[in-house]
Amino acid sequence: MHQYIRQFPSLENQTATIKGWVANSRDSKGLVFLVMRDGSGFAQCVVSEETVGAEQFALAKSLTQESAVALTGTVLKDERQVGGYELQVTGLQVYSIPTVEYPITPKEHGVEFLGKKRHLWLRSRRQWAIMRVRNEIIMGIHAFFQERGFVQMDAPILTGNACEGTSELFATDFYGDPAYLSQSGQLYGEAMAMAQGLIYTFGPTFRAEKSVTRRHLSEFWMIEPEMAFYDLEMNMALIEDFIRSVVTRVLDRCKMELQTLERDTTMLEKVAQPFPRITHAEAVKILRGEKAVNGRTALEMLDAEIARCQDRIAACQADIAQREIVVKDTNEKKGVRNFNQAQIDKLKQEIADLEEQLRNLPKWRESAATFPEDGDFGNSDETVLTRMFDAPVMVYNWPTKIKAFYMKEVEGDPEHVKGVDVLAPEGFGEIVGGSERETDLSILTRKIEEHKLPMEAFEWYLDLRRFGSVPHAGFGLGLERFVAWMCNIQHIREAIPFQRRYGWLFP
Ligand code: 4AD
Ligand code: MG
Repeated sequence: MHQYIRQFPSLENQTATIKGWVANSRDSKGLVFLVMRDGSGFAQCVVSEETVGAEQFALAKSLTQESAVALTGTVLKDERQVGGYELQVTGLQVYSIPTVEYPITPKEHGVEFLGKKRHLWLRSRRQWAIMRVRNEIIMGIHAFFQERGFVQMDAPILTGNACEGTSELFATDFYGDPAYLSQSGQLYGEAMAMAQGLIYTFGPTFRAEKSVTRRHLSEFWMIEPEMAFYDLEMNMALIEDFIRSVVTRVLDRCKMELQTLERDTTMLEKVAQPFPRITHAEAVKILRGEKAVNGRTALEMLDAEIARCQDRIAACQADIAQREIVVKDTNEKKGVRNFNQAQIDKLKQEIADLEEQLRNLPKWRESAATFPEDGDFGNSDETVLTRMFDAPVMVYNWPTKIKAFYMKEVEGDPEHVKGVDVLAPEGFGEIVGGSERETDLSILTRKIEEHKLPMEAFEWYLDLRRFGSVPHAGFGLGLERFVAWMCNIQHIREAIPFQRRYGWLFP
């Protein structure tokens, strides 16, 4: 049996064998330094000619990136190394050495290139960390619901009817009849909730919109709980507990992964506080600058943001000017000059990002200031709203006309429905959409007609209102949007092992 790098703390000063791949290697007189990855972690392994002999040393020297090897040696504590331990190698056995150069080198590559090499990109330390956070989120989601007596159910993927609107359906052929890849398991979840009380689905869902934004996938994983005898209030309380529970668990169990991702966790820690709950109408007032939050309007916040970007650009430019003097000084040490050049490159990138923000902020301001009463929030509006609170925000009571047919009308106000969206901070936007469900058979049939959905396909769903109808509610969390937020990934493509989105089917 071999051991795993993650077990090193309990193997200190003992002999261990690890099996893995070379992530990086360098050698200097009589020593080869291999950064190994074995799936469970990364560790430096040192091969010394003196210890292993000339033949094995030559073999170690010939190892290139992605060579697969088993290494036996002594585990030593070394605070300076990745993971805090190092393997002093006494023997090695080679599984394979690539005969061509590995396409992904430690230098920077563009995301388009990396996307095409996703099958290999997954091995990089950053992607490795993201996939482990994703795994912990999945475990946290199951733990949360299972501990509360929810039954996990699998909804069908091939369906005969739409759930979230007909324009986003992937059509397929089902023995000669039209069928669609499911957009949501909700309607089936509602049926199961009437049998089991508390349920949740956890499965793939599909959306066919030809969207190329950084938050859209054609295939994504959704978690959809559905609760009998729950109203909108209870739904919101559950969503809040749920998000807080999963975020806290990941902060607790994925410290190393979040560090690897250089994730500043300040915003994530704020989930401990109550999530602000505002109606859609209040959100519109806040956006337009008609309502202040903590004494500040959205327009004032945006103006302050514009000023902050301008100040920061000026500071970066001054810093660059200083460093350019050092870089040009031929009397200065090479290392110092190189360091300063690297800092200049970083600062230039920061300026480019800030200039991009400066181009966008006036558009955001414009969109916020003129936001329509019954509008759906765009990316920038969501960012503005969450910046006002610096925490996940719940927006409820939405305009009826922009939401799905199944949402319950607010009593005495048919222009609004009891829907709720949760907006994640730091520009991540909507991560959860949910609602209390319409129970009135006549309203429901009218809505199905208004949404131009085929009534016969919903007959079974209407039965849920004919037999034992009760107030009920539920929500849907997009797994990848949640992963992206937790890991601070700017594009959702890195939050799923293999992306499926407009223009991407391979690999
Ligand atoms: O808001 P949505 O469309 O709601 C539903 O599907 C309901 N049936 C949920 C329910 O009440 N049971 O989608 C829910 C969540 C969104 O908040 C978002 O996180 C994610 O699913 N999502 C997507 N994620 C990635 N790519 C897409 N194209 C997504 N569309 C929705
Ligand atoms: Mg939604």
